[in-house]
Amino acid sequence: MVSNISSSPALTFELVARCSTTRARASNLTLPHGPVQLPMFMPVATQASLKGITPQQLEETGCTLCLNNTYHLGLKPGQEVLEAVGGAHKLQGWNHNILTDSGGFQMVSLLKLAKITEEGVRFLSPHDGSPMLLTPEHSISLQNSIGSDIIMQLDDVLVTTSPDKARMREAMERSVRWLDRCIDAHKKPHSQNLFCIIQGGLDLDMRRECCKEMIARDTPGIAIGGLSGGEAKDDYCRVVETCTALLPDLKPRYVMGIGYPEDLVVSVALGADMFDCVWPTRTARFGNAVTKHGVLNIRNARYANDFGPIEPGCGCMCCRQGEEGMGVTRAYVHHNTSKETVSAHLLTIHNVWYQLNLMREVRQSIIEDRFPAYVQQFFANLYDDKA
Ligand code: GUN
Ligand code: ZN
Repeated sequence: MVSNISSSPALTFELVARCSTTRARASNLTLPHGPVQLPMFMPVATQASLKGITPQQLEETGCTLCLNNTYHLGLKPGQEVLEAVGGAHKLQGWNHNILTDSGGFQMVSLLKLAKITEEGVRFLSPHDGSPMLLTPEHSISLQNSIGSDIIMQLDDVLVTTSPDKARMREAMERSVRWLDRCIDAHKKPHSQNLFCIIQGGLDLDMRRECCKEMIARDTPGIAIGGLSGGEAKDDYCRVVETCTALLPDLKPRYVMGIGYPEDLVVSVALGADMFDCVWPTRTARFGNAVTKHGVLNIRNARYANDFGPIEPGCGCMCCRQGEEGMGVTRAYVHHNTSKETVSAHLLTIHNVWYQLNLMREVRQSIIEDRFPAYVQQFFANLYDDKA
């Protein structure tokens, strides 16, 4: 019999069910801070906090794995403080899992002046303008101090979809070389899982070549990067599909920077297991509720006299209370969106819950062998049946 379980020093991965007509999978991932059910959406707590909610409120959404950024934590509170407190779990009082991105992507996308060389990513400190260099070794050292359950390799990411083939090839090949440097620098492979990141832009042959090189390095999990940059949806799908066709079954697959509900559902169908994005939490701070009928801007005057919950039938703390007639109505959220921060908190909780619950429903439908019907209903709700 073929085994459904694989393990690395700090991770086990078990396939629970597969869809018979798509590549969708349901799986169990066990990390140092507990089990995680896949597919899953990971909320982004950039500075070791999910803007607007407490770690306890995040726990109440059912989240068991969230993202932190090496770049932000490395600058502040900095490596010394992280070492002194014993890592990011302790710092934020979070007993569940943490994944850290390696930092390069954040610098390249936030600081337009970042320069990439073979050595690493050079940039000017946003605090005092002094020149800084993030190398693969330094990123891993920071992530070792952060103590995250999943750490990401430093990669050479192009934040443009413009097809400069030569530069794309250089970035892809450099990412492979940087993975080797990350593997050599990683001091805690028994408690932290290093994931590689497949690059290669929208060029499918380059993606295939990168998959082959990355797979050969046998990391405990595999990410697909270089997407979420505004590429066309069909290009996006072709890249994910090309990569998942080549990846080993018994490793988690993480598509970086993806977070619109429809993209999550489609990406699961293409064989991906993990996702992250700042969008659901960022859009909450602009007064937007993510619902199964699409995004509703609760600042709109039509909600001033709407005494229903943010989303009828939603199981999050805010909507449940509303349905029981105890508190949060759309009118309340609307009323508070201009000056008070409470609406941002409520919408953040609702949106995170929505994303996590969407993945829970997707998982259940895969397990019960009705994923295609679930997808059909999901799109019918989204496009045909506006609330
Ligand atoms: N976040 C979104 N895309 C990427 C990527 O390609 N690399 C890294 N490191 N982070 C990302
Ligand atoms: Zn809700």
